[in-house]
Amino acid sequence: MSDSRALGFFDSGLGGLTVLRAVHAKFPEENLVYLGDTARLPYGTKSPETIRRYADQCVENLISRNVKAVVVACNSASTVLLGDASKKYPVPVYNVIEPGAEAALASSTSKRIGVLGTRATVNSNAYPNAIQALDPKAIVYQNAAPLLVPLVEEGWELDPLTNLIIYRYVAPLMSQSIDTLILGCTHYPVLRAGIERVTGSGISLVDSAELIVRNLERDFASGKLSKRVSPKNEPENGKIELFATDASHAMDVTARRLLQQPSAGPFMACDL
Ligand code: DGL
Repeated sequence: MSDSRALGFFDSGLGGLTVLRAVHAKFPEENLVYLGDTARLPYGTKSPETIRRYADQCVENLISRNVKAVVVACNSASTVLLGDASKKYPVPVYNVIEPGAEAALASSTSKRIGVLGTRATVNSNAYPNAIQALDPKAIVYQNAAPLLVPLVEEGWELDPLTNLIIYRYVAPLMSQSIDTLILGCTHYPVLRAGIERVTGSGISLVDSAELIVRNLERDFASGKLSKRVSPKNEPENGKIELFATDASHAMDVTARRLLQQPSAGPFMACDL
């Protein structure tokens, strides 16, 4: 049975578009709705109570748009929507932490795993807890990288200064002989080339976007979610709608670059 309701995504800003892009590439027929809580960005510097309140409002907003599932395209918000916390909603809610922990363990041989994240994600210990629940012997090293989110929002992913800052954050993790690094913030895949310059090619990078695609694929296959099958008289590709709590032209430009879609957007302003 076809379900043309959209898949909903939210992040504090534009980083979650890396997740939306991967989902669109894999399931182009799906309608997608994105909400960036740009008026309150960043989440990563805020307390768990505040992040919980914001995340709740984002999920409720997407549910009011009649989505069939919500993807928490933000690690900082995922830390407050783990396990039972995500089960109170009437639609499936996908967080990025638990699948990230599983993927990191699957790709690590030495079980020495690094996590690069926002302060909120690192302070929550969500990744070490999830990893050690699966493998108590695994060792997890974390580093908070608070300057990276504003650099991505600013479009500075190729700037030499950004590469220096990446080095400052990633080098201490490399000195712990990790073999796997979790990109524990959905903004970081935008900086993947710069991060790989520091890690070299021998380190596996775990990216939330790939994990979400895998989990959606699993749930489409099991029937937990139904795909949109486009009716004959409608375009085959689904539509992408972008909402933000503070929309601007600069954001539209960044979104088109991140999505690699010149016609994407513009962001429509919305209140939560
Ligand atoms: N993209 C978000 C994350 O994955 C957070 C950025 C922020 O608001 O600090 O954690």
